[in-house]
Amino acid sequence: MQANKLADVFSDNNTHISCAGIIARHSTNTNDIREIALKGVDLSECREVLDMGCAFGFFSRALKGKLNSGARITGIDYWEGYHEHFTKSCREAGFKSEYYCKGIEKTREFNDGHFDLILCSYALHFFPYAIPEIARILDKSGRFVCITHVSTHMNEFMKFIKDCITSKRNSLYEYLPYEELIKEFSDANAPELLADWFEIEKKEYYLNSLKFEYEDFQSFLEYFRFKRSFFIPDDLSGDEELVEEITRSLAERVKSENELRISKSDVIYRCRRLK
Ligand SMILES: C[S@@+](CC[C@H](N)C(=O)[O-])C[C@H]1O[C@@H](n2cnc3c(N)ncnc32)[C@H](O)[C@@H]1O
Repeated sequence: MQANKLADVFSDNNTHISCAGIIARHSTNTNDIREIALKGVDLSECREVLDMGCAFGFFSRALKGKLNSGARITGIDYWEGYHEHFTKSCREAGFKSEYYCKGIEKTREFNDGHFDLILCSYALHFFPYAIPEIARILDKSGRFVCITHVSTHMNEFMKFIKDCITSKRNSLYEYLPYEELIKEFSDANAPELLADWFEIEKKEYYLNSLKFEYEDFQSFLEYFRFKRSFFIPDDLSGDEELVEEITRSLAERVKSENELRISKSDVIYRCRRLK
């Protein structure tokens, strides 16, 4: 599994935005995870904020009314297509912004303690090696707020795909690319990976699932096609017939059960730098 290669899917910024909408509309938990993550913290003195793997600024947008009025939000993401969307999200939140179309290594250029607040939603599994660097560029009294998937993310759907691959191609895969990715950073190893650098002041689970009725199946397919490389092992990536067969099997199942439910729980870590 190569995290960088998987991150290539996000080059299609329009489909990413469309799929984020699909996930939001089909989530059974309608609470705003960003509000839960930031609840009860006084960020009114925060002037320098970093959003790592920011894409279109999902997390930054939730800072509306929370930061110092002169605050600046810096976003880093691989793809230029998010620049305008990120700028708009920050503007609508009431803050100026800067966007770097760069890999996360860009953080090496910031001084020690430069940021008062560092955010990272659904991205740290791509670059867990950056954790020491996050601690270095965070102010001593600053906070690092991370939202990530739980280790059992979509596990029954992953099993469905693995069973399909076994029955249709007679191949056994212990882990799909998405599972390999999540193993890099999830609730199963986050406390251990953060421990040398951060004290976790808040850990909270956000229990959620996706629910699609049969008539919404096309929306699920849009999501599945967008994230195809996360679900289909690399050596089967060119096997169009397999993807069609998986899609047909899933459609039959959803039709007979009249709904598709996929667990999609997340976890929030709000951290302070170890002194
Ligand atoms: C699942 S998306 C999450 C986007 C956003 N944080 C959100 O919550 O909607 C992960 C993002 O991380 C970015 N990303 C992954 N690895 C990266 C890296 N090494 N450097 C910069 N961006 C990266 C991807 O391009 C993608 O936009």
